[in-house]
Amino acid sequence: MKKDIISVTYIAVAILLASCGSPSSSNSKAGKWQSFSGEKRIEQRVDSVLKLMTLEEKIGQMTQFSANWSITGPVMSDDFQPYLEKGLIGSIFNATSVEGIRRMQQIAVEKTRLGIPILFGQDVIHGYKTIFPIPLAEACSWDLEMMQRTAEIAAIEAASDGINWTFAPMVDIARDARWGRVMEGAGEDPYLGSKVAEARVIGFQGGRDVNSLNKLTSLLATGKHLAAYGAAESGRDYNTAELSEHTLRNVYLPPYQAAKEAGVGTFMAAFNEINGVPATADRWLMTEVLRNEWGFNGFVVTDYTGTNELVPHGVAKDEKHAAELAVNAGIDMDMTGASFIKYLAESVEEGKVSEKRIDLAVRHILEMKFLLGLFDDPYRYLDEERARQNTMTPEFMETARKAVASSVVLLKNENQILPITQESGKTIALVGPLMNDSINLNGEWAGLGDRNKSVPILKGLTEKYAGSTVKLIYAEGSSITGTTPAKIAEAVAAVRRSDIVIAAMGEDFNWSGEAAVRTDIRLPEPQRELLNALKTTGKPVVLVSLSGRPLDLSWEDKNMNTILQAWFPGTQAGHGIADVIAGDYNPSARLVMSFPRNVGQIPIYYNQKNTGRPADLNNESVDYKSSYLDTSITPLYPFGYGLSYTTFEINHVNIDKKALKTKNDKITVTADVCNTGAVDGEIVVQLYTRQLVASVTRPVKELKGFQKISLKAGESKQVEFEVTSDDLAFYGIDMHKKAEPGNMKLWVAQHAADNSNEIDFLME
Ligand code: BGC
Repeated sequence: MKKDIISVTYIAVAILLASCGSPSSSNSKAGKWQSFSGEKRIEQRVDSVLKLMTLEEKIGQMTQFSANWSITGPVMSDDFQPYLEKGLIGSIFNATSVEGIRRMQQIAVEKTRLGIPILFGQDVIHGYKTIFPIPLAEACSWDLEMMQRTAEIAAIEAASDGINWTFAPMVDIARDARWGRVMEGAGEDPYLGSKVAEARVIGFQGGRDVNSLNKLTSLLATGKHLAAYGAAESGRDYNTAELSEHTLRNVYLPPYQAAKEAGVGTFMAAFNEINGVPATADRWLMTEVLRNEWGFNGFVVTDYTGTNELVPHGVAKDEKHAAELAVNAGIDMDMTGASFIKYLAESVEEGKVSEKRIDLAVRHILEMKFLLGLFDDPYRYLDEERARQNTMTPEFMETARKAVASSVVLLKNENQILPITQESGKTIALVGPLMNDSINLNGEWAGLGDRNKSVPILKGLTEKYAGSTVKLIYAEGSSITGTTPAKIAEAVAAVRRSDIVIAAMGEDFNWSGEAAVRTDIRLPEPQRELLNALKTTGKPVVLVSLSGRPLDLSWEDKNMNTILQAWFPGTQAGHGIADVIAGDYNPSARLVMSFPRNVGQIPIYYNQKNTGRPADLNNESVDYKSSYLDTSITPLYPFGYGLSYTTFEINHVNIDKKALKTKNDKITVTADVCNTGAVDGEIVVQLYTRQLVASVTRPVKELKGFQKISLKAGESKQVEFEVTSDDLAFYGIDMHKKAEPGNMKLWVAQHAADNSNEIDFLME
């Protein structure tokens, strides 16, 4: 069946590909092209296609369009259909469903001169149909294996539906909770962010080896958004990122570089500018750093209309000029803006862009199509039966449920109100706008996840306690943004008949994500009003907070007895949260973004600089110190923080030697970790260091290692960390990365503000 529909032109190309291939036919040196896979045969195959192509066809490969949607699925917009029919499109995104994709692929392969297959992209961010917790939540699990697996599952589902390429992972460091896109990343830390970037790239691409892309279960991944998109001033989306090269290299770039090292096939240019240059036009970033320093050989796509936006940015006089700037900076593909296809041929004729540069971009793109096997069989991903079998399977559901439970952070648990076991005999009042909601649970960027299929918390708890001694009473109490005295009275009456209240409160799902910025990050007023009323009953209140960002929970911290930060948990929300509430899963998540005391503290992050006038945290005096008159400088809940139903102690921290050399040396750190409580649990043991003196100022703490371990009640284990001189290297005054001599400290800690185990050592 597949063979039958391969067109005559396509066969002609295929024969050519099979027969051409003497090393002399490779033109790679001229274009300074080094194959991504390093494979000579691929180089030759790419060159064999390239030499058949007209300039216009080449520019077509550098062009991506977005498919439109109708109620029944993707439709072709008139805007791009003519380009498709002429073989002038390299990639289409948002064309979902096997049937829709087949229709478009058939045109490209059977109706165009060369029959070059299309690359189909999609934002598969935290699941495709099975939706996992938002990436920020998943990162709180500190469970890299699990994050790799959820990316793998997302890839299996999407690739089975005909998708080849995901615009993920988003690896932007995020220090500003106002910015709605914090939900898409791994938080504020470059070390953890790099590990998560690596796990997600390997998950999506099906392995570290680029040949994994050939599996029918993998997607080409995208490291985005290069660079420092998360540093948008005042958290306002798309805003200028004003930061030094020092901060860029030491803080923001490491996760992108980790994605590159993990073999990511593509990068996406950010919308923002740095140093006066929008990323899409930034030759230094896209060519000097990405290609020449890091040796990246995949391809770079703009963000949505990123090229056209160079005009309002004020660096291009018109869209033609914008296209020239982008391509000359090192961009290979234009997402949706159509400025390449409209103007680049003319720019080449005028000598403003070289054909060599165009060839290079096209090589990068064609290589990915070869690695994905699209030239061998453009329909290989299109099989309805495979799509059915690989969607929302019981195994995917089980992984999703575990992902929810391991992403929920227990922030407060006065008098051990949680867990509420099935044997407890309690009556629980269940209230709040998100208690019986399924629409919001997937959060933003939820792929093709059916919002009606996500398990409400009410359903999860009802099933959990069915047939047990626990009784449940439900009263909504308020919607996300409004309440009435009658609704509040109904909820209060339910509470009076109960022993405990669980209130599921939080944000609407589209209050985070792209262009979703808030300057007031508290719970909406009506929800706080409801919580206040619940509190007056004197019954213990458990707040389950659902949000796409760290909220200002200062009032709740003072007034609620227990707080569970559940983020947006996805398809299995209700079940995973119920597992935690009933104690079938002992919370093990730890924050990856600091929670502020109020919005005025933002940006707030643990790895800040000391300043020349550091505030003394033990002394309330604020005179001429780097502090506030009206609040503490510390966060409400620090990075790395999270409680468990048990307690842990870390003791006997030792290092094998007191000094290490700046090159090729290492220290080994050991510590005893004990579960001092009555139930089994997991702890994330965190290793932080500080360099006290260097050629440039250094953060007061930096995460350099972590281990998530399980301990039975009463059990002790020794953990061991190796810290190399390379791990302690940074970009100093000369902007070269190396370790510098100086006094150092290290901590083996339960979170970033835990100073209990401090050790001095020396870098010589
Ligand atoms: C976002 C990207 C996304 C793209 C395609 C843009 O607006 O910034 O992250 O991949 O749209 O949907």
